[in-house]
Parts: sequence; C-alpha cells; structure tokens
Amino acid sequence: AVAIGPAIVVNGVEQAMDVDVRTTLLDYLRDHLHLTGTKLGCDHGQCGACTVHVNGRRINACLALAMAHQGDEVTTIEGLGAPERLHPMQAAFVQHDGYQCGYCTAGQIMSAVALLDEPCGGDDAAVRECMSGNLCRCGAYANIVAAIQQVRG
Ligand code: FES
Repeated sequence: AVAIGPAIVVNGVEQAMDVDVRTTLLDYLRDHLHLTGTKLGCDHGQCGACTVHVNGRRINACLALAMAHQGDEVTTIEGLGAPERLHPMQAAFVQHDGYQCGYCTAGQIMSAVALLDEPCGGDDAAVRECMSGNLCRCGAYANIVAAIQQVRG
C-alpha cells in the first residue's frame, strides 16, 4: 500500500502532504511542490519574503508547519496571477516600479493583496504600518506604497 498523507489545497489543486512533520509550509511549497516564487529570507518571521495566503489570510510560511495546514487552502504568488493575466496588484507593482532586486516582491504582493481585506487606515503612513512585516533591502517602499494605494483606489 502507498502511504497517502493528509491533503492540502494549493492554488486550487489538492496535494498530498507526504512530508516529515518538521517540514515548514515554506519548504513544502518550494522543495516538494517546486513553487519557488515564495522566497526564504530570514527564516525567522521577520522579513515577510515567505508570505502566502492561508484561507485568504496572510501568514509567514517559514513559521508554519505544513502538517498543521492539512485541509487548508493555500495561495502562493503562482496562484495569484500569471504573466498574461496579472492580478491588479501585480500590474500596479509593475506600473510603479514597486521593486528593485525583486527578491521580496512575491511576499510584498501577497501581503498587499491580503491588506485589501484588512482594516488598514487610508493614508500612506497607515499602509506602511500595515506592510511593516515585509522588508525591502533595496528600499523601494515609496513605490510599493504607491502601487498599493492605486489598487485601493
Ligand atoms: Fe519567513 Fe523571513 S523568511 S519571514
């Protein structure tokens, strides 16, 4: 018999989780499903490069155990849009140059999309605070905030 692990839904596709119980959600996504858009930065919950959505809310995948999310719906940057059909937030980041090296960008965009459904204040300072869990070593913050504000309308 083949051991079938508990299932998780990633970008709309049910996936078996036949992984060690110590595997983080981030390692599961990158190493097992080869969804490498989600990045490993600090591995300590401080940079936000690993941000994904779980049941519509943003989390740091480096701090989560994959097994703890059996039955959950996970969305990564790959599930948000594609080159020929960008999510409005992705398009806004392109339009406003909301990145430099791009390493933090997937996490920034996943956080920014989640922010749209959160009680975040309307001005730029509020957006900076709501995005404070996502660091950008290049310092593209002004353009990131501009992109988010455009989508928020
Ligand atoms: Fe997860 Fe930095 S890699 S918060």
